[in-house]
Amino acid sequence: MKRRQLIQVCSLTAVALAAPLALAQSAPFKIGLVLPMTGQQASTGRQIEAAARLYMAQNGDTVAGRKIELIVKDDTSLPDVTKRLAQELIVNDKVDVLAGMGITPSAMATAPLATQSKTPLVVMAAATSSITNASPYIVRSSFTLPQVSVAMGDWAPKNGIKSVVTLVSDYGPGNDAEKYFSERFALNGGKVIEKLRVPLRNPDFAPFLQKVRDAKPDALFVFVPSGAGAAVMKQFVERGMDKAGIKLIATGDVTDDDQLNDMGDGALGVVTTHHYSADHNSALNKKFVDAFQKANKGMRPNFMGVGGYDGMRIIYEALKSTKGKGGGDALLAGMKGQVFESPRGEVLIDAQTRDIVQDVYLRKVEKKNGQLYNVEFDVIKAVKDPGKEK
Ligand code: PHB
Repeated sequence: MKRRQLIQVCSLTAVALAAPLALAQSAPFKIGLVLPMTGQQASTGRQIEAAARLYMAQNGDTVAGRKIELIVKDDTSLPDVTKRLAQELIVNDKVDVLAGMGITPSAMATAPLATQSKTPLVVMAAATSSITNASPYIVRSSFTLPQVSVAMGDWAPKNGIKSVVTLVSDYGPGNDAEKYFSERFALNGGKVIEKLRVPLRNPDFAPFLQKVRDAKPDALFVFVPSGAGAAVMKQFVERGMDKAGIKLIATGDVTDDDQLNDMGDGALGVVTTHHYSADHNSALNKKFVDAFQKANKGMRPNFMGVGGYDGMRIIYEALKSTKGKGGGDALLAGMKGQVFESPRGEVLIDAQTRDIVQDVYLRKVEKKNGQLYNVEFDVIKAVKDPGKEK
């Protein structure tokens, strides 16, 4: 073989060998986003999808040479459907990452699939403490109910609230909220008179609120999932609970930014604890809220939206850390330990627990420029999930 021919053969071989690698590098990176887009939890799906698309619009749809493909599926917030969709996304679509998970039962149903297939699952909404224990492939960008409920157990007794009735949705996050609020409140000398639980599906709050009226506590502590807060607020006011001297205190799920502005002046003065308010005073948050509203016909982002936005950030940065190569374990390693500024404030993905460490705020509903907001008035810095400390 002549020297020139040899060089040609060699370079052709090099191209042939490199081709599959180049192909793999340029194959799209698929994110399977499973969300409740219809049904009782539809606002969660709408918020997270909008936030994920905003993140992509702002940060580009190519990361480390890989085109990002977002596949959105509606699980109608039924865990059996979540599981089936996740299975299809893993087997048929060969997604690189699963994400979303509007409610705890959906995340729990999907956890074993993430483990078996070694697919990272970024939980952007669901917030029962134990979710991250259900699979070593779960990373959470939302929050936990213990994280925000303990803060209320500290605040209430210092602010003249000595007796409380609790009212929570009867499933994982409600049970967490009830337990962690009550324990801390009692530790601080408060008395929990009664613990009430309402069904998650189609709840009727009226008979429960009547019980609360009869018990006459200083305050009613509430957790209901995002989307159900307006109904509680309406009935609380209609039944004249506030006029009867019963205060409403809650986790921020109740005074949800997605609905707050439509709740009316009855919501004024309600104190809640949570990790995100659209009113959070930072340059980054103002930019986020403006861009989100501009892209979504004025819709105000809520804490679910922020969970989706930050979840995308976690995925993008993990893919960068693998230089575009991906792979379940490598991506997971790139997700653990991320520290960054979120629209909610500084956050950390705890490498040990894969859960989010974040500031928790005390907020009061106030009117600003004619609109209702959760206005932050105090902060507890860098709160880890108390559910992991036992
Ligand atoms: C949950 O199901 O984990 C969940 C849903 C909505 C919330 C909080 C927790 O606002």
